[in-house]
Parts: sequence; structure tokens; C-alpha cells
Amino acid sequence: MTLANYADELEDLDRRYVFHPFTSPSDQAGSSPRIIVAGKGAVLRDSRDKEYIDCMAGLWCANVGYGRAELAECMKEQTLKLSYYHSFIGMGTDTPALLSEKLVKMAPGRMSKVFFGNSGSDANDTQVKLVWYYNNVRGQPLKKKIIARKRGYHGVTVMAASLTGFEGMHKGFDLPLPMVRHVKPPHRLWEAEPGMSDADFVKLLADDLEKTILAEGPDTVAAFIAEPVQGAGGVIVPPKGYFAAIQQVLKKHDVLLIVDEVISGFGRLGTTFGCEAMNIVEPDLITVAKGITSAYVPLSGVLVSEKVWATLVEGSAKYGPFGHGFTYSAHPVAAAVALENLALLEKDRLIQRAADLGRHMHAGLAKAFKDHPLVGEIRGTGLIGAVEFVDKSRGGRSVPFDPQLKVGTRISKRAFEDGVIVRALPAADTVAFSPPFVTTEAQVDRCIETARRAADAVMDELVRERQWKAA
Ligand SMILES: Cc1ncc(COP(=O)(O)O)c(C=O)c1O
Repeated sequence: MTLANYADELEDLDRRYVFHPFTSPSDQAGSSPRIIVAGKGAVLRDSRDKEYIDCMAGLWCANVGYGRAELAECMKEQTLKLSYYHSFIGMGTDTPALLSEKLVKMAPGRMSKVFFGNSGSDANDTQVKLVWYYNNVRGQPLKKKIIARKRGYHGVTVMAASLTGFEGMHKGFDLPLPMVRHVKPPHRLWEAEPGMSDADFVKLLADDLEKTILAEGPDTVAAFIAEPVQGAGGVIVPPKGYFAAIQQVLKKHDVLLIVDEVISGFGRLGTTFGCEAMNIVEPDLITVAKGITSAYVPLSGVLVSEKVWATLVEGSAKYGPFGHGFTYSAHPVAAAVALENLALLEKDRLIQRAADLGRHMHAGLAKAFKDHPLVGEIRGTGLIGAVEFVDKSRGGRSVPFDPQLKVGTRISKRAFEDGVIVRALPAADTVAFSPPFVTTEAQVDRCIETARRAADAVMDELVRERQWKAA
């Protein structure tokens, strides 16, 4: 069988049998799936032998790069030694104990325990159950609402999708659940008045949160959940002082802070946790996943602060054992991989590398895109960045393009054909960049040049289609 025949067969199987997440079922029959079959460092190869620089680290997660022998060896060793045992009813295995100690000691704030899961979504569902339980133990059964942000992304399970602030993830699923509210995101382009200072924008956002808490009644609001930098919502970096102001409001109304570090944890922002980069000093609960294993195996964690843990302990008298846990909670192979992944980050100084490469990337993005006629904002920090494309041709303020034009998607598709994976994010025409920490400067430069060429080509297309003209 030739490589092309094999690729045809794989694509056919994929079309016939695979139910793809975030893909229109109506596109399935006529789709042209790309099947990735190998990866090394920042480079992926598909079934037709074409190579791509993965400037998204998969889904913001393959941080130490693909195909690391150290992680493969560690997985093999742990599997041969102990492939599985559970962590229910006080049982345990060795690697999760070692990992928990490491996580609690490296985490910001005063953390006490780690509850392990398998994905960012299930961890965020666990967070909400913990928060509800916490308030039941405290004798505040009405204090159950959770406030999230528009364009925040927290996953897809029933509660996590409710917390996620994208309409497209609620429509057709009877979501969000009734106890969830969404407040304004710190997205300067669409939420701030032109020329607004950081201080005034922070005040506007903190007031929006406080008004929402007061309108709902503080005795009904349990927690606020936020990513340090909103990832899938557009790589939205909050203005200076944002989290200090938000934490003040939360404290005043006895509302817990859940920090969703699924993307930002373990180096993506150039710091160990996003909390450090964004000045979040006292998280009550932290969600981690993705970068904890660099996506070699699924693993997530809920880090529980001393304050919350103390209340859970009191709860045993009322409720008995904590009635929650997954078959794969604290999986020994996943924990072994996480330990080795964290050791690699340290040994190769990869968090510093993410910070340095991030500076290079942001300088490159600014140079390539600052004068582009379609660019509304270039954002990012650490090794995460984005360019948002807007229509400035209509006089006055920039406006988003008609979503039907799929400007961001067209740009990312063209870059893909040119061998570079960047991602068009769902909320607007934003194209994201989030490469593995081991990507070279030359590879990052190639990604940026390719994205710029793709943006130029799409701009020419829009002109030909009479959808856009230079102002
Ligand atoms: C900030 C954040 N939280 C939660 C999730 C959900 O994680 P998972 O896809 O592992 O369920 C994601 C996934 O992208 C995320 O970016």
C-alpha cells in the first residue's frame, strides 16, 4: 500500500466513524480530515508526510514539545512497576503523593491538598461541587451561584460549559445552568471606552462584578472563576491592577476565588503559575491540567486552600465520606509523567525559556502586524499571544467582521496549508499563537511570517469579494 492510499484509507475511516469535538456534524461526510501521525519538538507530521510547525502546542498544552524520550521512558517504567491502583477510601499509590507535595509547595497562596481528575473540565466541575459542599457545611445553603466571565473558557462538561462564556457552547444544550452568571471580561478592545486609562477600566470591571453580586444578593453568590489570562476567549490579558480590585470585591462579599490555571499553569505565562504573573495573591482554589503533563497523558488537579480544606474537614461530621471521585483520580502513571514533566521544566529551565521566547514572539508579532489594515489589537504575555482582526473601513470605531466571513478561520486555514498551525479562536476573528516552550526562534519567526502572508491573502480575497476596502 502506498502512503497516499494509506492516508486515503485513514481519512475515510475518520469520516465514517470519528465524532469530532467542535466540528459541525453536517460537515462530516464531506470533510477532508488531516490525520497527524508523528511529532518531534514543535513539528508535527501528517499521514501524507507533510510537516507543520505547531504554533499552538496542540491545544495550549504540549509545552515541553512532542516525542520526549524522558517522558516515554518514565511512562514505560511506571506502567511496568504499577499500571494502576485507585485512590478511593483512603487507598493510594506513591507517585500522586510525591506529586501532591510538589504541587502544594510550588503553588501560590496557602494550598493544602490536591484532588486529581482527568481533564480541565472535570476539575472545574469538582471545583463547583467543592464550593457548594463548603457552603452547605458552613450553614449557608443559599450561597450557591457562580460568577464567571463572558469569553472565559472552563471546559465542556455540564457545569464547566455553563461557566464558559461562549453562546455557541450553550445553544442546543439547554445551558448555562441557572445558578451561573457572566460578567464583563477585561477585553479592552470591546469593553473599554477609547482612550480609557487602566485604572478607569479596572474600576469599570470591578464595579460590574460588584453590581452583579449585589443584584443577586451576596448571600447567594458562592464563587468567582477566572483564568489569569483568558485563553480560548481571545488571549485577553487583564489591565494592571485588575485582580487586586477583583479580589477586594470578592473578599468584601465572602465570595471564593477559583483560579483556572489550566493553560497558564507550569510556565505558559513565563512564570510557574499565572497567579504570579497576574498578581493573584490569595486564590481559594486552583484548577490545573494541560501543562502539568505537557499533554503526554490526561491529568488534572484541584488545589484546595487551607481555608477551604478546614471547612471540608468539618463537613465529615455532617456528611460522612466526601462522595466524589473518579476511577482514574490520582492515576499513578499520570502522576509519574507529571513529576518527570516538572523535572524537565526545571532541568532545561523551560519556564525561563518560555519567558524569553515569548519576548521574541511578541516583538515579532508587533513588527509583522502593527501596521496591518485589518488588525485591531495585538495581545499577549509570556509565551501566549494573539492578533485580533477587525473592520476599520466603516469610519469611526472598529467593528467586528460579519462572523459569516470567517476571517480568522480563513487566515488559520491558509497558514495551515503553508505548514504552520495557528488557531482561529471562537469568540471573534482572533488568531492565537502558543508554541511549545522548545520551539526555536527561527520556527517562531516562520510562524509569524506565514500568518502575516495569510492575513494579506485573506485581505485581498475580501477586497475581491467586495466585503472590505481600504479606509
Ligand atoms: C482555561 C481552561 N480551563 C479548562 C479547560 C478545559 O480543559 P479540558 O479540555 O481538559 O477539559 C480548558 C481547555 O482548553 C481551558 O483552556
